[in-house]
Amino acid sequence: MLTPPYLVNEHYDDRYFDVVNAVEEAKHIYFEGTGLITRLKKSGKLSICETGFGAGRLLIALMDYLDSSGLTDLAITYNSVELHPISKERMASILEGFREAVGHLIDQLLQAYGSIDITKTKWQQIQLTRPFGTVTINLYIGEALEMVHALAAPCDTWFLDGHGPKKNPDIWRPELLMAIGEKTASGGAFATFTVAGAVCRSLVAAGFNVEQVTGFGGKKAVLKGVKN
Ligand SMILES: C[S@@+](CC[C@H](N)C(=O)[O-])C[C@H]1O[C@@H](n2cnc3c(N)ncnc32)[C@H](O)[C@@H]1O
Repeated sequence: MLTPPYLVNEHYDDRYFDVVNAVEEAKHIYFEGTGLITRLKKSGKLSICETGFGAGRLLIALMDYLDSSGLTDLAITYNSVELHPISKERMASILEGFREAVGHLIDQLLQAYGSIDITKTKWQQIQLTRPFGTVTINLYIGEALEMVHALAAPCDTWFLDGHGPKKNPDIWRPELLMAIGEKTASGGAFATFTVAGAVCRSLVAAGFNVEQVTGFGGKKAVLKGVKN
């Protein structure tokens, strides 16, 4: 299958995500990988941080996952960062392939995303209400390390999703992963699609117990870990 040009991030010559099963892939790698349902059952709230907001696919998949969890009254804080924010129209094109399954969530996110000014740097906030509770999205328009430093409190869960390390080594640099370790609550978790040796070593140095586990779809293996 040819990749539609709008799926490739021109700044990194890399796709925003693998087209086939990207919503299901998110659930396996990021949501099961970080055990977030177990965490939510305990406290009803969770602070998530993502490197690379892109087209919001992880956020859409998360809302779908939580909608079908049967849990209610959850308070999710979803902090994310984007150095090259895309227009609402481009986001709609990128997410079009998932419309049949999660069209209602795409429309809800697009409407909220359209209300923020992506030309302004620093934090932008939007809030979504779902059957499971609320998601407060704090989107930092700018560079990932700046955002990590600007986080008011450590996060419980990290989704590291910033293009492959060969295409975008910056978002995997040791300094940034170290700062992420420092901004992770004790017992907090991360998950990522890459198993690159340098990423693995930096995450260990940042204080995580790192584990390689079975991947999903085109990915044979992925990484997850818990802060020591
Ligand atoms: C693979 S895409 C993310 C896909 C997104 N999680 C989704 O599910 O749609 C990675 C994103 O990280 C952004 N990015 C890359 N380097 C960055 C940096 N240093 N700081 C902030 N964002 C960055 C890219 O512009 C891109 O949108």
